[in-house]
Amino acid sequence: MKFFVDTADVAAIAELNDLGMVDGVTTNPSIIAKSGRDILEVTKEICDLVDGPVSAEVVSLKADDMIAEGRKLAKIADNITVKVPLTWDGLKACKVLSSEGTMVNVTLCFSANQALLAAKAGATFISPFIGRLDDINLDGLELIEDIRTIYDNYGFETQILAASIRNANHMSECAKIGADVATAPPAVIKAMANHVLTDNGLAAFMKDIEKANIKIV
Ligand code: E4P
Repeated sequence: MKFFVDTADVAAIAELNDLGMVDGVTTNPSIIAKSGRDILEVTKEICDLVDGPVSAEVVSLKADDMIAEGRKLAKIADNITVKVPLTWDGLKACKVLSSEGTMVNVTLCFSANQALLAAKAGATFISPFIGRLDDINLDGLELIEDIRTIYDNYGFETQILAASIRNANHMSECAKIGADVATAPPAVIKAMANHVLTDNGLAAFMKDIEKANIKIV
C-alpha cells in the first residue's frame, strides 16, 4: 500500500520523505488555509520535494471553472494530481482533465455508487473518506471493502485512495482490505510505530544495559 501524507507542512513531509515513507501528498482547501501559504507556492514547493503524485484541489463549483483551475494547477509540475469534488460538475471536470493526460483525484466520496461514477469518468484516484463516515456512525472501512470488490469485479484501474484516516488502526485495516493508497496526517503515520510492549520491552532492556554496563561504541 502506498503512503500519501495528508498535509501542506513542508518540514513534516521532508522528515517522512527522508525515511522513504512518502509515495505522494494530498492537500485540500482546509489544509492549505491552515498552512497560511499561497496555494500555488506551497504546492510547487511540495512537488519539488516529492517524486510521487501531489494532489491540489480546485476551488470552484462549476465544471468549466474547475477545468480552468485544473489546467493551471497541472502546469505547476508533472506530478500534480488535480483534485475535484464528487459532484456532477466534478465528474465532468474529471473526464476532461483525465482525457488531457492530467492525473485526477475525485474527492469527498461517501458511497460505492459515487466511486463507480468516478471510475467511469476516468479518475486516477478515488478518495473515500473513512473518518467522516465513522463520525456519523457509519462504517468507513466497509466502504473501502465495497469499492475494492466493485473495482476488482470489472477491472477498473482507478486507485482507491483511503482518506480521512484518523488513527493507526485505519492504516493496517486499509492495507488488509487492499486499498491502493492511504493518505494520513504525519502524526498518524508516526503513531504506527507505537506499541506498549515495545516501550515496556525497551525499558527492561535499558535497565539490564545499565546494570551490566553494556557498551558497543
Ligand atoms: C484527503 O484527501 C482528505 O482531504 C483528508 O484526508 C480529509 O481528512 P479529514 O476528514 O480528517 O479532514
